[in-house]
Amino acid sequence: MSSNTSKAFTPLTIGPLKLRNRFIKAATNEGMCKGGIISKGLAAFHERVAEGGVAMTTVAYCATSKDGQTFVDQAHLSQDTIADFRALTNMVHKHGAAAQAQITHAGSFTFLPKDFSSMKPISANGGFNKFGVMTGRYMKKKMDRADMDAIADEFVRAAIHAKESDFDAIEIHMGHGYLLAQFITPFYNTRKDDYGGTIQNRMKFPAEVLSKVLDAVGKDMAVTVKYSQTDGKEGGNTINEGIEIAKILQSTGAHMAQLSNGLNVESIDTMFGNPLPKTSVKPKNLIVRLGMMMQPKSKEPDSEFKQLYSMPTAEQIRAAVDMPLCYLGGTQTMDNVNKVMNEGFDALGLGRALIFDPNLVNALQKGSIRNSGCTACNQCVTLMYTPGGTACLEEGGHKGHAPELNTTPASAA
Ligand SMILES: Cc1cc2nc3c(=O)[nH]c(=O)nc-3n(C[C@H](O)[C@H](O)[C@H](O)COP(=O)(O)O)c2cc1C
Repeated sequence: MSSNTSKAFTPLTIGPLKLRNRFIKAATNEGMCKGGIISKGLAAFHERVAEGGVAMTTVAYCATSKDGQTFVDQAHLSQDTIADFRALTNMVHKHGAAAQAQITHAGSFTFLPKDFSSMKPISANGGFNKFGVMTGRYMKKKMDRADMDAIADEFVRAAIHAKESDFDAIEIHMGHGYLLAQFITPFYNTRKDDYGGTIQNRMKFPAEVLSKVLDAVGKDMAVTVKYSQTDGKEGGNTINEGIEIAKILQSTGAHMAQLSNGLNVESIDTMFGNPLPKTSVKPKNLIVRLGMMMQPKSKEPDSEFKQLYSMPTAEQIRAAVDMPLCYLGGTQTMDNVNKVMNEGFDALGLGRALIFDPNLVNALQKGSIRNSGCTACNQCVTLMYTPGGTACLEEGGHKGHAPELNTTPASAA
């Protein structure tokens, strides 16, 4: 029996999926897919979070195809990954939690070496590709209608592979500057046709992807969307567009929207509520290292962090739509969990707090703690591309597991 009567511990239904409570492990790229392998380490990470009490854990950054990857060491959903993903979802289900696959296509935000795939990076716009400077993919292709059809089909195929891998939900990534966000944000989309101009036009292709995925798997799985309420960058979307995006997602039939913020490279501080630390672990891979150097850094890592930093914009979206919404951004304490519930959000996403303490939800429910202890130092972000993958460097934080686990397929005996 629960010793905590907060609404956060009551069940929630999204689309066809019933969740045991309102806590959702937000996608945090764990960096545990060396060479694309869905590893025992990744499965163990999600099992630990499931055992720790969340309703659903999100497996981050599953590309729709090899071409859709940002990095070589990233998962993509295909026939070949079903066995390993099944091993992972089984481990999550054993503890009564659901598993969600975040599906994404990088578009031009790709650091793949030239010989990894033949494809020229695609995006809403064509022309010079600033992300390709380090890897020789200097030019990007402006997607035409045939490209849009092909990519929408890729999202559908990825969703079907996720269903075959026994995932309970799909999260379509429309935020942070990946392909679908490259359509949504005027920072990257300056098209003059039906897919550019107004936010309604810029949302046309992402909404079409959502609609096709819903048609393909929406009866059996929850289909959610993660997007950026604001881009946090001049020339990008503001909360006015953030509200319009929510209305379009609602009318297209998304089962829930998770409200993130910012662009990966241009405004990572908007995503995290504070910048990456100045002194951080340096990944060995030069390309990843250079990519991280492009990000804004702070002199004092946690000086600017405010809990519930996304609330001022999220509240405005809550007031504008009725669809299920998942609040995300800087929730660390039981008091703030309750605040999120009292503001009318249906669910609550947690990223860093669960990297610090995978058992956080159980501990909050039991009342053994009221504060996670995570200081949002963001060192976990810099650890993503080290052999051990994401972990916590803070005192009392979860130290991760043996790096060998990250090179062994999850389904291996
Ligand atoms: C190590 C790390 C990796 C992340 N990787 C992803 C990712 O792959 N996809 C994504 O949508 N968000 C990613 N995020 C962002 C989180 O989902 C979330 O938006 C952010 O951490 C803010 O939530 P929090 O304050 O609860 O941590 C990542 C965050 C962290 C800390």
